[in-house]
Amino acid sequence: MFRKVCLSFAAVALSAALMAAPAFSKPVIIKFSHVVAENTPKGQMANKFRDLVNERLKGKVEVEVYPNSQLFGDNKVLEAMLLGDVQMAAPALSKFSRYTKKLQLFDLPFLFKDIASVDRFQQSDAGKGLLNSISKKGLIGLGYLHNGLKQLSSSKPLRVPADAKGLKFRIMSSDVLAAQFKAVKATPLKKPFSEVFTLLQTKAIDGQENTWSNIYSKKFFEVQPYITESNHGLLDYMVVTSAEFWQGLPEDVRAEVKKAMEEAIAFGNKVALEKSLDDKQKIIDSKRSEIITLTPEQRAQWVEVMKPVWKEFEAQVGKDMIDAAYGSNK
Ligand code: SIN
Repeated sequence: MFRKVCLSFAAVALSAALMAAPAFSKPVIIKFSHVVAENTPKGQMANKFRDLVNERLKGKVEVEVYPNSQLFGDNKVLEAMLLGDVQMAAPALSKFSRYTKKLQLFDLPFLFKDIASVDRFQQSDAGKGLLNSISKKGLIGLGYLHNGLKQLSSSKPLRVPADAKGLKFRIMSSDVLAAQFKAVKATPLKKPFSEVFTLLQTKAIDGQENTWSNIYSKKFFEVQPYITESNHGLLDYMVVTSAEFWQGLPEDVRAEVKKAMEEAIAFGNKVALEKSLDDKQKIIDSKRSEIITLTPEQRAQWVEVMKPVWKEFEAQVGKDMIDAAYGSNK
């Protein structure tokens, strides 16, 4: 209660300070924390947002970007945001389960055919509604950002689900992802992104799932001899801020920040599309990993084994939402 009163007071004070905006007053700092490298869709989006805000709201608002888990890992960032230690972040949709079960929808294996389908769903009323799914926890979803579809990397070639049996895979902190790997009789381990390279290098785990840009920028391909192009799941983000901070900004400043964020997201989405092709090609060119292309029959086996996970989570995410998301595939 005391914390809430203090935060509300801080929000009013922040708003009043910004409205007065005397030439000598200090700008409001937006710390944007993320876990990936700068040469990724999210890294590029955050830098674009910083550049736009710092240019357009010079003296009023200043964005500082902290990449590579420098400030907070994804497991801590939302807590830190509620305490006012960081103002913006864009965790993977798989990392919100402590705040809402609804976003688990996006983790269901083989739900989306491609990113265009993801986009159609996210921009629909049902998809936009999910941006509010964390509002009761004091957080506001400002928008979705794409990274791409996930691939399976491993120390062994994975062609059919039986090949994954008994292997250890790092996953993000998502029960759906845990169920997905249990479905193929593998062992899932929830670990922070910052630990993945070392876990793979030391062979503490056998594999992981990620997008081409994360596999490339974090050099996972250098320590994983095989990558199966499975496109079995989605890695997208929600850009979030705290309600206290957001509502504390004067309306005109908030509108400018929102506009800059929308432009930065559009830019990041363009980068995501480019990187899903370019980074894959760079991995192929490196000859460090063999890329395994599944035959339609092999792919059908993964779908058959993993798809029962949908039923397991239907009550938590809602059948209507699953139908709406799946219906966005054309
Ligand atoms: C990210 O892209 O933000 C991290 C994804 C992961 O934890 O695998």
